[in-house]
Amino acid sequence: MKTLIRISTAAALAAGLSLGGTAAQAAGGHGGPELMHPSWSFEGIYGRYNEDQLKRGWEVYAQVCASCHPLDYMHYRNLEGLGYTEDEVKEIAAQFEVRDGPDEWGEMFTRPATPPDAFAEPYENDALAKLANGGVVPPNLSVMTRARDGGADYVYSLMLGYEGGVPEWVHEEDPDFALPPGKSFNAYFPGYAISMPEQLFEGAVTYSDGTEATPEQMAKDVTAFLQWAAEPELEDRKELGRYTLLFLIVFTGVLYAYKREIWKDAH
Ligand code: HEC
Repeated sequence: MKTLIRISTAAALAAGLSLGGTAAQAAGGHGGPELMHPSWSFEGIYGRYNEDQLKRGWEVYAQVCASCHPLDYMHYRNLEGLGYTEDEVKEIAAQFEVRDGPDEWGEMFTRPATPPDAFAEPYENDALAKLANGGVVPPNLSVMTRARDGGADYVYSLMLGYEGGVPEWVHEEDPDFALPPGKSFNAYFPGYAISMPEQLFEGAVTYSDGTEATPEQMAKDVTAFLQWAAEPELEDRKELGRYTLLFLIVFTGVLYAYKREIWKDAH
């Protein structure tokens, strides 16, 4: 029995590691505080997205982040994945303007978006994006939870990691630290000096489900939404993972029985 247990624990561990996702860890290997780790509905092998939360997260993205950050690869019709109906998605899309053209006069123009359109880009080009953001282009957020160490925990912590001034512990770490002009202090951003000002002030968005828009609530919702944008197929993958795990356990049992059969007379 020992082998079986050992092998299936290893299989469970391997599956858990690849399915689990977000373990707490320090931001990007630099000093500073440990990342915050709220409980995520999509964690663990039975993890699922919470549609109410995803809708709220979309509202945060649309009302706050979309004015600076693109969400590449996303089309308005993908919002049906959050539980919106076709008609609701039409209405949502129509609130955004997308660039189109050229028209018969050779001119580019803007028009209200429709469900098949890709999400509107906040800036016409990188030069304008830089000009508006202290020389830094706000990055595409659609793969952010996968692109950074710490994933969802990092994005959540970053949104809440602003401090009015430079805290004492930073000067203990580096007595010469000075915040360059135009940058904000963020405890979780590598190097601490970030070109994105604090975004999530109390009441920054109006939730249509009436939830109180505290900074923690908004940070959690928008991070869950960004996790979904990066990995909409997560639930299918977890289901496959569970079957794979079950298969491995059964298969291990079969192998073990087989081994005993073969060695039965050899002792
Ligand atoms: C006023 C423009 C602006 C708004 C609004 C804005 N951001 Fe940013 N954001 C930036 C800029 C500029 C950067 C690049 C920061 C840097 O590299 O110093 C950035 C960077 C980021 C990063 C990447 C940090 C990293 O590790 O590189 C994340 C994640 C992020 N923003 C999330 C959000 C979310 C979520 C929202 C909405 C709640 C939001 N931002 C709203 C301008 C903005």
